[in-house]
Parts: sequence; structure tokens; C-alpha cells
Amino acid sequence: MLEKTPSDRPDAAQRPEADTVGPHAVPLTLRVNGMTHTLSITPETTLAQALREQLDLTGTKIACDRGACSACTVWLDGAPVCSCMVLALEVGAREVTTIEGLTDREALHPVQAAFIEHDAIQCGFCTPGLIMSCVALLKRTPHPSEHEIRAAISGHLCRCGTYPHVLSAVLAAARTEEA
Ligand code: FES
Ligand code: FES
Repeated sequence: MLEKTPSDRPDAAQRPEADTVGPHAVPLTLRVNGMTHTLSITPETTLAQALREQLDLTGTKIACDRGACSACTVWLDGAPVCSCMVLALEVGAREVTTIEGLTDREALHPVQAAFIEHDAIQCGFCTPGLIMSCVALLKRTPHPSEHEIRAAISGHLCRCGTYPHVLSAVLAAARTEEA
């Protein structure tokens, strides 16, 4: 196999100007839970890391750190995303909502209260992510069927096996909102 010799390689000075940042920290502005934050982050920092390590919003959990479990779910402009799969630099002007921003902290969100009522929490590591997906579901589908709830939480891994309780909790929260 022919290997490229140094003389075959384009000279760095001839390469098109790359739109790169880093490896050093760069400034970043993030809108999180209704507040604007100015951070200094290295380009490989994920949104999950920025939230936990720079903003102290540790309700967002990092479990697999590779998009497989959904424990790190937050909202970007109201849509659930795995924050371990989003670079903080990619967020741009979109509004980030974490579990801490779900309510004004004076009271629990009805879905949080229903999780407690229906014993849908064991170790709790998957819980914030699950709640973010369940609340997003109720916002777009206030009266979901069991099938719709299962579909909404299908990417969430709960090693403690709370799924039947999560289902009951979301159905109950939907009824509460109805009342
Ligand atoms: S920690 Fe992000 S998907 Fe598992
Ligand atoms: S409650 Fe333990 S992983 Fe879900």
C-alpha cells in the first residue's frame, strides 16, 4: 500500500482556513432555566458536563456518557435531548431546561409528586431524566395512552426496574392535570 510521504501532504499554510476553536478554553453564553450564564469551556465539554461541573446543576445525571441511557435528559427549546451527546458549544441561543428549572422550587411539579406517590424512584439515578421526558410528553400530549408513555420513555434505562410505577405515575399526573 502506498503511504503518503510528507511531501504529498498539503502544507498547513495551503490548507483552507478551518473554522476551529480550542484546544484552549473559549467563552460561552448559555441560557439555562431562564438565566443567562457566561462560562469558559474547552471545546470538548458536553452540555451535561457544563451543567454539572460549571453551573452546579447536578440534578442532571451522567451515567453512560454515550447516548445509551437517557439519564442526562434535559430540554433544548422544550425538546428532550441527551445532554451528554450535545457539546456545550452547539447549544447556541437555545434555552436549556434542567430538572431544577421544571418549577420555581416552591412546589414539586405534578409529575414529580406522582413519582413519589407511585413509588417510581429507587436509587433515583434515572429519575431526573425520566421526569424531563414524561413532562415533555404531557406538554405535547396531555392525555397520553399507555403506549404513548412507553414510547416516550423507551430510551430511558432504569436498572432498578421502576417502569410499571413510572407508567402509573404519568397516568396519575395526567389525571391530576385534568382535574
Ligand atoms: S448519560 Fe447521557 S445517555 Fe447516558
Ligand atoms: S431508579 Fe435506579 S436506575 Fe432507575
